[in-house]
Amino acid sequence: MKYPAEPFKIKTVETIEMTSREEREDIVKEAGYNTFLLPSKNVYIDLLTDSGTSAMSDKQWASLMIGDEAYGGSENWFKLRDAVQEIYGFDYVVPTHQGRGAENLLSQIMIEEGDYIPGNMYFTTTKAHQELNGGKFVDVIIDEAHKPSVERDFKGNVDLDKYKKLIDEVGADKIPYICVAVTVNMAGGQPVSMENIKKVKEISEKHGIKVMSDATRCVENAYYIKEREDGYQDKSVREILKEMMSYFDGCTMSGKKDCLVNIGGFLAMNDADMYQEATSLVVMYEGMPTYGGMAGRDMEAMATGIYESVDEHYIEHRIKQVRYLGDKLAEAGIPIIKPVGGHAVFLDAREFLPHLSQDQLPAQALAAAIYLDSGVRAMERGVVSAGRDADGSHHYPKLETVRLTIPRRVYTYAHMDVVANSVIDLYEKRDKISGLKFVYEPPTLRFFTSKFEPL
Ligand code: F0G
Repeated sequence: MKYPAEPFKIKTVETIEMTSREEREDIVKEAGYNTFLLPSKNVYIDLLTDSGTSAMSDKQWASLMIGDEAYGGSENWFKLRDAVQEIYGFDYVVPTHQGRGAENLLSQIMIEEGDYIPGNMYFTTTKAHQELNGGKFVDVIIDEAHKPSVERDFKGNVDLDKYKKLIDEVGADKIPYICVAVTVNMAGGQPVSMENIKKVKEISEKHGIKVMSDATRCVENAYYIKEREDGYQDKSVREILKEMMSYFDGCTMSGKKDCLVNIGGFLAMNDADMYQEATSLVVMYEGMPTYGGMAGRDMEAMATGIYESVDEHYIEHRIKQVRYLGDKLAEAGIPIIKPVGGHAVFLDAREFLPHLSQDQLPAQALAAAIYLDSGVRAMERGVVSAGRDADGSHHYPKLETVRLTIPRRVYTYAHMDVVANSVIDLYEKRDKISGLKFVYEPPTLRFFTSKFEPL
């Protein structure tokens, strides 16, 4: 079915507040035109992120009631470990409070000063941890991933030639691992093909380089493989996911996305020595290796969520609901990243606001304008998110986007219509949207807390 109806019914509801345009004018000003800083009570439809914003199922809420809040050896930990072993297939699991906790452990264990970490496009926290540990991130995604209008089935693929060239240039001993994100968030939620993952594994094995995955949205990636890659149509998403993961030596996971929980994460691997190192580090940063910053109940809910996430009806609806919004916008001529990816629709802010230069922060300005128009909250993913280079100048990413990120199991198709109508209305009066300038900028991960003013 093109757009299947929700494969769930609604048992609990949360009322959302409506605000007037006049009210939103004050609110957005107060928040420094940064949608991260908006009070959620003033947001009508919250598409800031799909992270930690999923609706849990009745079974997950029931899971919360059987939390075993023991400091060591919690019963829920064993359930979580078993779920990861069964669904993802890794031998060892280290729980963390969320994805970046796992990134911290991985980066500390594997990276030495002067190392290079290739990856299929940067992600903010991943790159920050790599750099904090003396590594340098190198983008080895295919060129098409940086071109919003180029349609490719697997636009998140690693460019194997770029990867091989890096190995030739710096030497395999300077590359502790390659990080393959599935799907690729900053490229628009674009998937990676099984064939590409296999080839990355082949090249890496030959050179003794480990292959780690940022598995944050791996179930969405598995669905795309089922839909688009030859030979996978008759396999279950669960089987495809297990095969995907079998080519990786380990992964970091933000449970706040595909594991369908509000908090949690883990680092998983097959290497016993690495596991040993990770358990000694995790006690410093997260907690005991049997809770890693999560409450027992959170681990139980995540274990339940991991099984629910590979339900075929759930994942099909998830992907197609996002696609519904993208199709509606594309049909109205709105410039979006094509094809629509797994977790979000990305507006191409440079095309949307051609009268603004990248220094005038078009994506930030567009996100603020959308909030002002309809109370819909989106997120900037452009020059503000990309931060500054070592020499202090802005890092100018090729993609300057506004992300309309769809939480899992939270909104209906009718909500998607509201969002689409607002963006379409705004597009008609786009020349009225002015740029922004920084009035406050923190030294790292600036997009979270920066403040702006209209030009
Ligand atoms: N990797 C990817 C691809 C992510 O999208 C995120 C988080 C992380 C790692 C870090 O995980 O938040 O649990 O520490 N992405 C969120 C987002 C914040 O909105 O895209 P975390």
